[in-house]
Amino acid sequence: MLVTRQKVLRRFWYPVLPMSRLGDRPVPFRLLGQDIVLWRTADGSPAALTDRCPHRSATLSPGTVEDGAIVCPYHGWAFGRDGACLRLPQAHEPERNRPGRGATAHRCAERYGYAWVCLDEPLLDIPHIQEAEDPRFRQIHEFYEPWTAAGLRIMENSFDTAHFSFVHRGTFGIPDDPRPAPSTIEHAHWGFTMRSEAVVVNQGVSKEILRDTNERTVRRIEGRWHLPFFRASRIDYPNGITHVLCTGATPVDDRVSQIVQWVYRSDTEEDAPAEKVIAFDRAVTQEDQTVLETTTWDVPLSMGEELHMPADKPGLEMRRRLAALLAQHGEAEARLPAMA
Ligand code: FES
Ligand SMILES: [Fe+2]
Repeated sequence: MLVTRQKVLRRFWYPVLPMSRLGDRPVPFRLLGQDIVLWRTADGSPAALTDRCPHRSATLSPGTVEDGAIVCPYHGWAFGRDGACLRLPQAHEPERNRPGRGATAHRCAERYGYAWVCLDEPLLDIPHIQEAEDPRFRQIHEFYEPWTAAGLRIMENSFDTAHFSFVHRGTFGIPDDPRPAPSTIEHAHWGFTMRSEAVVVNQGVSKEILRDTNERTVRRIEGRWHLPFFRASRIDYPNGITHVLCTGATPVDDRVSQIVQWVYRSDTEEDAPAEKVIAFDRAVTQEDQTVLETTTWDVPLSMGEELHMPADKPGLEMRRRLAALLAQHGEAEARLPAMA
């Protein structure tokens, strides 16, 4: 599937930028191959336009922000969050101050400390994360970086309990027992919830942040996959600590996904410093990235092209749901031309 060619994927919300990176300058981003620009409006909320001035096509992102409007660097036209031209500095008469059409605006909203963008009429709301509203949890921002891997590969990896013994032997995988834990899947209109219970190795910094000296521990996993490329995976440990990994594999273009990851933790900074929580997740994430960046990015939705095993069920369900989504919206799956 070539994500930039599937129009229906423009109808989902994606986390594109931590609000902490949105200061007093516009910030460019590429979403599904579309260049956009984000900035902070007067009330502090984020806004997004196509990164192209409707006057003479200069990119807006090198411009400035004035009075909550984005100002084109070429002739200084200013645009509001709905794309309307609010100021045309060259106009001699104030009433001639507005050309007919403005810049192209996109839906943009702040949630969980991130700016989210949807390029077309949304099919679903921004994913609901119940732990975000629970005062017992703290939030830790972890990663914001591009990976050369398809969103579907990254998502299925997040629900794949069969790679722990190989990819994660340096962190939590049990090298000599590759049998994956059984799992169940419960479907929802927004995606699915996978439940599983996996025995994992507890070593190094993991012992510190779990405050558990045992060599092994058990992860009770409730992984929530949100169409198309977002997950919130809740891990409950036997000693009552909960760690919820929230990851967007936001599609930049067909080859690249922006990893946007944060976590919710049920413990305190004194129990487990954020720095150590991040260090453990960095090691795990790095292991995944290394292998995922070797995979192909035109991921087939049909079942016949790659081989599968029973433990691949979550990834197969993702393919099935995405294929059904395309079919419902009258789209054929776009693929690279077959090699001769
Ligand atoms: S190109 Fe943007 S104001 Fe002229
Ligand atoms: Fe992994």
